[in-house]
Amino acid sequence: MKAQQLMSLLIAVVAVVGMALAGAVQAVAQTPDNGAIAAKYVSNGNAVRLGNATKSLRCSLLQGGCYRDYQKGSIYWSPASGAHIVLGAIAARWAKSKWERGLLGYPISDENCTLISRGCVQQYQGGNIYWQSSVGAHSIHGGIGSKWGQMGYERSPLGFPVGEENCAGAPVSCIQSFLGGTIAWKAGVGVSVNPNAGSFGTVVNKRRPNTPINRTPPDLVWAGSQLMRREAATQMAQLISGASAEGVPITLVSGFRSYATQARLYNNYVWQYGQALADTISARPGFSEHQTGLVMDIGTPNGACALQACFVNTPAGQFAAANAWRYGFIVRYPQGYDSITGYTFEPWHLRYVGVRAATDMHNRGFKTLEQYFGLPAAPKY
Ligand code: DAL
Ligand code: ZN
Repeated sequence: MKAQQLMSLLIAVVAVVGMALAGAVQAVAQTPDNGAIAAKYVSNGNAVRLGNATKSLRCSLLQGGCYRDYQKGSIYWSPASGAHIVLGAIAARWAKSKWERGLLGYPISDENCTLISRGCVQQYQGGNIYWQSSVGAHSIHGGIGSKWGQMGYERSPLGFPVGEENCAGAPVSCIQSFLGGTIAWKAGVGVSVNPNAGSFGTVVNKRRPNTPINRTPPDLVWAGSQLMRREAATQMAQLISGASAEGVPITLVSGFRSYATQARLYNNYVWQYGQALADTISARPGFSEHQTGLVMDIGTPNGACALQACFVNTPAGQFAAANAWRYGFIVRYPQGYDSITGYTFEPWHLRYVGVRAATDMHNRGFKTLEQYFGLPAAPKY
């Protein structure tokens, strides 16, 4: 082949390829959804994350949107929101909110799983969905969402949402529960925060007092000789019968303590041991977990090693260490974590966090609530 012939062949090839490319560009322009979803699928390891396509592209969703399902999730696209991946518990929550047809609309980001406690968030046009393993996935939006955001999102004392917003009445009023309290919103009135109505994940330590400081928790009931919040009392009764079934007797030593009771107790320790030592074994008034109604100090009928580290070697101590999580309790001040909790080892001090959170902490090896919720250590006031 002569050089000239070669050149014209080359020109022809370039022209054909060029036309094909132009055609492709035009095709993409006609169905940009297809192009955007396909591009999303092949970028950043998404193909591995999603697996193979299980359906062909589906279009004609609201606002000209399209989606495609894959083995492990989907990609949703609309001209206004772009292409984003939805998968797992967050996708299930979005589905319950009627996908793009509900008030959340289309996703405007992929999920971001760098939150505290290995939590995730995905942003949508009308709000966000938060997920954390101990509370599941819940959406946040509107006035309640703004208030929660102002307070510091999942890092605020309220922590992650534990349920969806619940609305009723006319004029409408809504309430949403978080780990550490509730936020209510009323049309024409505004928002209010109630830190007293928290679920069982609220954290009280030397940096996070009970709020208000002299708070009395709701729903205190008698758990034998001691007071506890209702659900914690029920679960403590279960723990005691579980231990009893294994031939391990457990007694109740100290449950709910009011601000005033804690003040007497603490002052007594200061008088006995001096403040520095007292601060490592007793909380100052307002800063005790006992004031939450979620704690029980347990003992043995013969009083062996009562409120001492050697309690861990008694049958009751051993039962608690191995099984408390099954009933929703954690040993709140474990050995060797003084620099995080601010207290020496208390194998008798059981804190109710709910079965879901206690199981999650057990399975993932978290020893303290501070680490579990990604909060700062609280060795000092
Ligand atoms: N002994 C625990 C730290 C309390 O006083 O609450
Ligand atoms: Zn205690």
